[in-house]
Amino acid sequence: MTGKPRISDRVGRISKSAIHEMTRLSKDVDDVAFLSWAKPTSDTPEHIKDGAIAAIRKGLVGGYSENAGLLELRKEIVKKLERDNHVDAEISQIMVTVGAIEGLAAAVMAVVDPGDEVLLPSPTYSTHARQVVIASGKPVFVPTIEEEGFALDIQGIKNAITPRTKAILFCSPNNPTGTVWAEEQLRQVARIALENNLMVITDEAYEYFTYDGHEHFSIASMPEMRRNVISCYTFTKTYAMTGWRIGYLHADEEVILQINKAHIPLAICAPVVSQYAALAALKGSQECIAEFRKHYLSARNVMCERLERLGSVFACEKPGGSYLMFPKILLEEGKDSTAFCKRLLKEGGVSTTPGIAFGPTGQGHLRMSFCVPEEEINKAFDKMEVYFAGR
Ligand SMILES: Cc1ncc(COP(=O)(O)O)c(C=O)c1O
Repeated sequence: MTGKPRISDRVGRISKSAIHEMTRLSKDVDDVAFLSWAKPTSDTPEHIKDGAIAAIRKGLVGGYSENAGLLELRKEIVKKLERDNHVDAEISQIMVTVGAIEGLAAAVMAVVDPGDEVLLPSPTYSTHARQVVIASGKPVFVPTIEEEGFALDIQGIKNAITPRTKAILFCSPNNPTGTVWAEEQLRQVARIALENNLMVITDEAYEYFTYDGHEHFSIASMPEMRRNVISCYTFTKTYAMTGWRIGYLHADEEVILQINKAHIPLAICAPVVSQYAALAALKGSQECIAEFRKHYLSARNVMCERLERLGSVFACEKPGGSYLMFPKILLEEGKDSTAFCKRLLKEGGVSTTPGIAFGPTGQGHLRMSFCVPEEEINKAFDKMEVYFAGR
């Protein structure tokens, strides 16, 4: 018997990734200026590569590690959490994951039952919504307040809670807006979670990339949140280790035991060679982080200056963190961000990401990444100045 392949409704409902679609379309455009990926373009620092090479040579990477990750690595993660996140963690509360993404997926799997609602302050990183759908949960987009720099709408979060609400999931510094939510706002979110017995799942991928005095705050540093928070981190952004697929999460031991049950069928363990690279990253000099931050800050400023010159086309506040911007499109034709984005690529030669990919409140916006060399930013804006001339 022939017919359509038997695909689950869950996966069938997931739309194609706009970022991958823009990447595919970009291949047909000559001399494209590419601002679509939130992926560091720098290479992994040498001492990190050396750590991995040494482990390969010693024959340490051919087998699985403990599911939760190498003990030595988890010890270093505990130190890092205490030093940089003010989180008082134990080794038994750490699980090393295949990037932040697998940690988030395992956390969502461990928390969400079919039909459970998960609040996503929006615009939001599209993968978070997909992870909720894959767990048969329901993503509930709670708009942030754009006029206040995409601040959290605390009352909006309270209003969105129903008897089916199980968790709040978000990233700060934010993808796609670059907003760093203030400690006071995050403390309010924590209080709401405690009052309603919700889990808070945090994605802290951009924790080190904050500017202009904005500071990253980890909810797990609040002792009273111990049983209600799962915090996901990654080496991807911090050490330019995208392809190594290595991250980790922290949660109360009781919660970790449950997440580990989801982690095993997803991954068994994180790639062992990458765990040794991560160990070298944590044990070695941290100067590379400051260098990356300096580069992103300078690139952000170039992008903001260039955006200002296109003030009749885009409106944008300076983002306080990450390496992403989310300008509003002021032109009438920008109401459909997908069509606008595709036209800008085809006719203007600049690849960005349509705002609608980040939830309904993203419509009418574009996401632009500044984790690229400054020449790429200037090239993109030179092209846009020609494309939008007279508008
Ligand atoms: C907010 C956020 N979380 C997670 C990731 C991916 O992290 P990882 O490579 O550690 O899986 C990204 C990548 O763009 C991201 O923007």
